[in-house]
Amino acid sequence: MKRFTPELEEFFASAQRDVDHVLRALIAPHENPIPNLDDGIAYALGLDGEAAGGKRLRPLLCLLVAHTLGGKMSSAMPFAAAIEFMHNFCLVHDDIEDCDEFRRGRPAVWKKFGLAHAINIGDYLFTKIFAALLTGVGEIPPEKLVRFFALMSATLDHTHRGQALDINARSGRLSIERYMALVTEKTGYYLAAPLVAGAIAADAPPDVEETLNSYGMFIGPLFQIKDDLIDLTTSKGRAAPGSDICEGKRSYLVAYACEHARESEVEELMAILDLPRERTTPEDVARAMNILERCGALDDARRVCGELKTAALEALMPLPAKLREVLWQVTEYLADRKT
Ligand code: IPE
Ligand code: IPE
Ligand code: MG
Ligand code: MG
Ligand code: MG
Repeated sequence: MKRFTPELEEFFASAQRDVDHVLRALIAPHENPIPNLDDGIAYALGLDGEAAGGKRLRPLLCLLVAHTLGGKMSSAMPFAAAIEFMHNFCLVHDDIEDCDEFRRGRPAVWKKFGLAHAINIGDYLFTKIFAALLTGVGEIPPEKLVRFFALMSATLDHTHRGQALDINARSGRLSIERYMALVTEKTGYYLAAPLVAGAIAADAPPDVEETLNSYGMFIGPLFQIKDDLIDLTTSKGRAAPGSDICEGKRSYLVAYACEHARESEVEELMAILDLPRERTTPEDVARAMNILERCGALDDARRVCGELKTAALEALMPLPAKLREVLWQVTEYLADRKT
């Protein structure tokens, strides 16, 4: 695993503590805590004291960009917190949509609190986006808040259109071309937004915002294809490797197999992916993995990640040197990550 410079490592560690502190304050239970809501939102964010709440990648990227461009942390923190609420809201609903029972090494919110509460906990996380932004009033000029609202509006629009494409693709074959369109909608804007938010917080010129957006459009798909590779090779906080096969997800690997595996193997793979999750056996998962491996899908996914990494690094070139240097390290980390 690539290591960050000690300076960047220290920045991330202290920013993570600050983000968690702000999130915790924003979800502090009302006078009369409501069971399955106040404990549910803390659980979803990993702030219940029992497990980590994920990597906090998006708020850290937002704060890193703002700080490196000379912005004040206090101007970026409301955006960073809002983005982490957005992310966790998306994940709570995503696990319901995907029937995924595990996240971050423990039961998904809907398995722990039941479906009805999980939908409400997701909505409550969404509500906290506004609470996070309100902490910036007085500190952040209204025009900046409006620009951030426009960014969030566009990002969530793309993300949910991408989620629909992802769900629609759950039956039948998928081409690589359609997959790339889907993943850009689903996770491209989603990872670009925190970077652009950091630039807004730091009053960066429009060309810096545009460059960060272009860079994000490469690391977003890189992040997702890598995530889908990790799902096959390690369990990534889920019960066992291959959760995406049980889900029936049409990942890059599946799209590659649709175009390159033998016809009989594509048919078999589709039949396994189309099985209801509870009827997919470990043998089915092993067979599907074998088909993906044999047709070269894993190797090709690694190759595409390499290409996206190169394109991302090139996209960084117009940025101010210090920002380019830290995002270079971030790109190396994303391309190398194992969890
Ligand atoms: C998972 O994102 C969801 C995707 C967009 C693939 P992360 O891997 O950043 O999730 P956490 O927050 O660290 O658990
Ligand atoms: C989640 O995508 C994307 C968003 C929440 C926007 P996935 O369904 O591919 O992610 P995981 O594997 O469940 O984390
Ligand atoms: Mg999912
Ligand atoms: Mg999903
Ligand atoms: Mg995944």
